Amino acid sequence: MEQFVLAGFPAQRLRRLRGHAALRDLVREHTLTIHDLVYPIFVYHGRNLEREIGSMPGQYQYSLDRLTVAIDRVVEAGIRAVLLFGIPECKDPEGRVALDDQGIVQEAVRAIRRRAPGLLVITDLCFCEYTDHGHCGPLRDEGGRRDVDNDATLALLGQQAVSHARAGADVIAPSGMMDGMVGAIRRALDAAGYASLPILSYAAKYASAFYGPFREAAESAPAFGDRRGYQMDPANSDEALREVALDLAEGADLVMVKPAMAYLDVARRIKERFGVPLAAYNVSGEYAMVKAAAERGWIDERRVVLELLTGMKRAGVDLILTYHALDAAAWLRAG
Ligand code: PBG
Repeated sequence: MEQFVLAGFPAQRLRRLRGHAALRDLVREHTLTIHDLVYPIFVYHGRNLEREIGSMPGQYQYSLDRLTVAIDRVVEAGIRAVLLFGIPECKDPEGRVALDDQGIVQEAVRAIRRRAPGLLVITDLCFCEYTDHGHCGPLRDEGGRRDVDNDATLALLGQQAVSHARAGADVIAPSGMMDGMVGAIRRALDAAGYASLPILSYAAKYASAFYGPFREAAESAPAFGDRRGYQMDPANSDEALREVALDLAEGADLVMVKPAMAYLDVARRIKERFGVPLAAYNVSGEYAMVKAAAERGWIDERRVVLELLTGMKRAGVDLILTYHALDAAAWLRAG
């Protein structure tokens, strides 16, 4: 306050700008729009399936033949980008099925291309949905400790990325938190002739309890242990800056912080330090909390969701991956 007085501002009455709705609109600093939103979709093996996820009311697993239902909803809502997750029928220790050009995500990308050629298709690049142990890459024994084999995973990620590119993905989004993953994927894409394909790196991804419902949806809960050996400690934010710096040096075009709500300080620091396109993932557990409270009538869902998403924009986030996208789009359109 004192600094404003010293700078020559008179003693302010800040409420003057809050009295009239149009004036509030005129002085608003941040605005959430439909174009900020990315909608995550789960593609599940099998046929004729549109199954609601228990801990994520309003979100579904779709089989390939039903994917058009989801895509039509997205297009109708005015959403222009989706993030794809695939849940295959067969899993193995290395997640080999993720590399199949006819795999579930690859086929889903093709189906979306046919149905909605203008939609931006981002593919999540990871192995936890494809390995039988649910970790984000093949395992190895290191001094009696079973852990994800970082460098073996890098080679596989490169192959998976190229397969997604061949299917027609517009953006590749590696989420496994392996060291060197962005560089390995960039090199593999470049070598295969996809130098123009952007990478959205899950750069600052925390070992969070907020992923619980997702792991039900994607059947990707680790069979033993947890992901703290590769995902970040929620207590750290300097480390997030190091993660982002490394990913940018390796060729990331956009970076992400995940989850969103408890990590907006991290988003702000990343934006201020690097000034690069920044995504936030408003994850499954965050969605579930809002839905649960809304179902009980404890909160006003519309206002809470728009407030949360606007808070992300205010923190410096450019694009928001959120399960609320369809609802938010409808609310934004209704004004
Ligand atoms: C896969 C992945 C996860 C999420 C996105 N990609 C789960 C995890 O790391 O366990 C979580 C998304 C959500 O909770 O909505 N690595």
